[in-house]
Amino acid sequence: MSETLIAPSVLAADFANLQRDVEMINESEADWFHIDIMDGVFVPNISFGMPVLRDIVKHAQKTIDVHLMIVEPDRYIKTFAQLGADILTVHYEACTHLHRTLQAIKAEGMKAGVALNPHTNVHLLEDIIQDIDLVCLMSVNPGFGGQSFIENTYNKVKALRKIIDKKGANTKIEIDGGVTNKNALQLKEAGADVLVAGSYVFKSDDPIATVADLKKLVG
Ligand code: DX5
Ligand code: ZN
Repeated sequence: MSETLIAPSVLAADFANLQRDVEMINESEADWFHIDIMDGVFVPNISFGMPVLRDIVKHAQKTIDVHLMIVEPDRYIKTFAQLGADILTVHYEACTHLHRTLQAIKAEGMKAGVALNPHTNVHLLEDIIQDIDLVCLMSVNPGFGGQSFIENTYNKVKALRKIIDKKGANTKIEIDGGVTNKNALQLKEAGADVLVAGSYVFKSDDPIATVADLKKLVG
């Protein structure tokens, strides 16, 4: 089994001390920065937008994994490429022409990700899996940090892993929402490659140690 990556979600950082928190992640054993962009339409919350991402990227020294929880993501693909996103993930539920959207993301030099809401069946990706670099399985309903993990996610990871293996695809499976030391190992064993963790990391007393513990558990 390959290394499991840890991607702290900046949504749970202290925005009044953003540079400090970004540097803390730089120093930690975390692998990626997970960046949640919410528009108040696709999800019932607004997080932050381009100017904040620009300042995060100024300091961040790891892969920038951008999760768009917005309608009509095609409108902003170029902008996110210019801002420095390495991976751009759009929601299946927000894309009428998903294949076209994924090609547009790749044409801008980014890796292309697709996120699925908890109710969306992984088999819907069967015909497009070879075009996807990352599937982000939402293990909470998108919109907020700090929610509890939906247990059915384990079944979804296993089913998706089978599809990826059957098709010989190179797609990574990312889990987003409610990840802690209580479910991390089981998620890895089910076939997850990347674990996003927001509140579990940033709201802990020692985020650097929390990332190290998670990494030791699954790494
Ligand atoms: C939820 C976001 C998640 C969130 C995870 O809509 O996509 O990335 O920040 O936060 P926790 O780990 O606190 O559930
Ligand atoms: Zn996210």
